[in-house]
Amino acid sequence: MKIAVVGTGYVGLVTGTCFAETGNVVNCVDVNKAKIDQLKKGKCPIYEPGLDVLLQRNIKEKRILFTTDLKAAIDKSDIIFLALPTPPGEDGSADLKYILNVAEDLSEIIKEYKVIVNKSTVPVGTAEKVAEVLGRKLAPELFDVVSNPEFLREGIAVDDFLKPDRVVIGTSSDRARDVMNELYQPFVRQGNPIYFMDERSSEMTKYVANSYLAMRISYMNEVANLCELTGANVDLVRIGIGSDSRIGKRFLFPGIGYGGSCFPKDVLALHHTSKQNKYDFKLLDTVMKVNKNQKKVLFGKIKRFYKNSLKGKKFAMWGLAFKPETDDIRDAPALELINEILNAGAEVTVFDPEAMANVKAIFGNKIKYARDQYTGLKEADALLIVTEWSEFRNPDFERMVKNLKSKVVFDGRNVYSLEKMEELGFYYNSIGRKIVNGKN
Ligand code: UDX
Repeated sequence: MKIAVVGTGYVGLVTGTCFAETGNVVNCVDVNKAKIDQLKKGKCPIYEPGLDVLLQRNIKEKRILFTTDLKAAIDKSDIIFLALPTPPGEDGSADLKYILNVAEDLSEIIKEYKVIVNKSTVPVGTAEKVAEVLGRKLAPELFDVVSNPEFLREGIAVDDFLKPDRVVIGTSSDRARDVMNELYQPFVRQGNPIYFMDERSSEMTKYVANSYLAMRISYMNEVANLCELTGANVDLVRIGIGSDSRIGKRFLFPGIGYGGSCFPKDVLALHHTSKQNKYDFKLLDTVMKVNKNQKKVLFGKIKRFYKNSLKGKKFAMWGLAFKPETDDIRDAPALELINEILNAGAEVTVFDPEAMANVKAIFGNKIKYARDQYTGLKEADALLIVTEWSEFRNPDFERMVKNLKSKVVFDGRNVYSLEKMEELGFYYNSIGRKIVNGKN
């Protein structure tokens, strides 16, 4: 099939590449010429495991093409995916200006029937708004607008796209439904479903899924905080509840708050939709408050340990990205923690396998950047674990001991067992578990 993807951000690139991978011809459009030039050469602007290989292969096979010319891409395509940013405005509402501007451009370009698909996360009613803009210049039989939310996790986005748990398609047009059904068949061959529904329910599904997961995490973060006060171990409680099939094992890991480009934005946007509809969605309000608080938990532990006197202390930080396998630092707990450390007059040397450049762009020479995870520990008063990258899970403990000034670890992701830390003689303060070799 012939596809155009407008917007070569994270979602657009994964979408375009994966559609090309299943044999379609995909024209990707972006206004950023520098980015398009890089992409033409097969240079992937984001770190996403597996994406660069697929991208290069499909460029070679001429199944994926890049251009800044919207009209040329649209003329060659039957299905147009809009993968444009929807940044939160001051009040939390998703800003639709990029989508609606492109819709207006499309209304000038389209001459024959096209299916226009909203891939961006957009509030309820957006498909109708896009259709309204298109309909100002186009006859109704020339287009259909479909909602098709993505459920991609950064770090495993290619796999999530190629083998989705489900595909959600919101459309009230039989013609568009048939087109979308054909397009997605290669992705559901394992038997996973395509759910067809109306546009509004589809738009709502995306926000509700992400907000539910954010709520689950916030719930577990509160449980962890209570475990610390009661002497229970949140790891055991997590396993204890997760084996109930009604609850399930996944997304129950406490930590130092959720971040990234989706959860914070989507919870806020759904909360805004509630307000617009004069509904007081109390749970969402609490989810956001709990998350804000949880981002401060690790620093609170550090402050208590040093009795509020952090001036001149040196910290080593492992992990900056909001989660492993990505270089994304949007809303990452590390950023707030670094600021708090600096404001308290302490120093920090950071290490992350992928996110160092992004952090450097924000903090510059206010902090130090380690060559590898061990050199960062040199002369540090304590190690802070902020992202659970696999390489932090089983480190060379001897080197850790040798490099650190004192054997102190604050772990925001519970990567080590209490027994191991006890045996190694570390003061070890993690989330929702007793403090090892120290007082609770
Ligand atoms: C999320 C959704 O999972 C995905 O379906 C949607 O399309 C986009 O948003 P992503 O933001 O890539 O994906 O990351 P995800 O793996 O879901 O993690 C989100 C945040 O929750 C991270 O900050 C992570 O550290 C945190 N998290 C996740 C926890 O604190 N505990 C958990 O058990 C799981």
